[in-house]
Amino acid sequence: MAYPNINSIPGTQQRNLGPVTEALLPLVEELLAVYSDSEVTPRVLELASHPYTHILSWAKRWPSVEWWGSARDTEQIRDIEAVLGSTPTDDRPPSNLRHPIRLDIQSESDWTNLRALLDGQSIQLGGVIMLNLIHCCPLGVPEEIFKHLSGDISSSDVDESLLHSSSSWVAAYGPWKNDDGTYKSDADKAFEESHIRSSDPSLGLRSIQSITSMAERHGFIEDKRVKMPAGNVFVVWRRRVVV
Ligand SMILES: C[S@@+](CC[C@H](N)C(=O)[O-])C[C@H]1O[C@@H](n2cnc3c(N)ncnc32)[C@H](O)[C@@H]1O
Repeated sequence: MAYPNINSIPGTQQRNLGPVTEALLPLVEELLAVYSDSEVTPRVLELASHPYTHILSWAKRWPSVEWWGSARDTEQIRDIEAVLGSTPTDDRPPSNLRHPIRLDIQSESDWTNLRALLDGQSIQLGGVIMLNLIHCCPLGVPEEIFKHLSGDISSSDVDESLLHSSSSWVAAYGPWKNDDGTYKSDADKAFEESHIRSSDPSLGLRSIQSITSMAERHGFIEDKRVKMPAGNVFVVWRRRVVV
């Protein structure tokens, strides 16, 4: 399904960086605690990392986590490499920040490449985060995320999930509709019309419940919703524990 890239409105990354980082804090602390007795470095993957503002800041803040960024296409990757390459010598990107991989969530081959990279290093991900991605995708596309992150955890002794364990998480921040499909505010409706649907009518705000239903089909449960400034919400899903 072809559709255009929507970039964030200039300035929003700097505005939401603080609140999003605070929402992420307990998840990262939990991850560090889970891995504290292990030799393994926890890894967090960000989807739609372009232009790398958030992940660069998180990598500096949490040096004990390895941060894997990704972007939808090679043009975005070139932009990011330019950003990383133009940092001043006394403020180089830290070594726990990986260069971006190409990951279009609709692309089977991009997910296969990610799996090969992770398998090659015998690692699973401790967490996956995405900011302002879901409303920039057509309706069914976010399901690809949960489908590819999950393995068939109920019927196999082999854990095929790309995620580490039941304590790992998938988090998404952004604007959402209410669960009944109505808008939370006139501002959200206007934002969707002027900035999202004007680029492509297949894109638009979704309800959290509609994404949770997709997640549930692939072995995840909704864990929490954190209210954020401007009516946005930070949502966390976890792998369902199979007993
Ligand atoms: C509004 S921007 C958000 C960028 C950044 N996460 C932020 O918060 O500033 C939406 C992003 O979603 C990305 N995107 C849309 N569809 C995608 C897909 N199928 N796979 C990966 N990224 C996608 C776009 O390329 C764009 O970078």
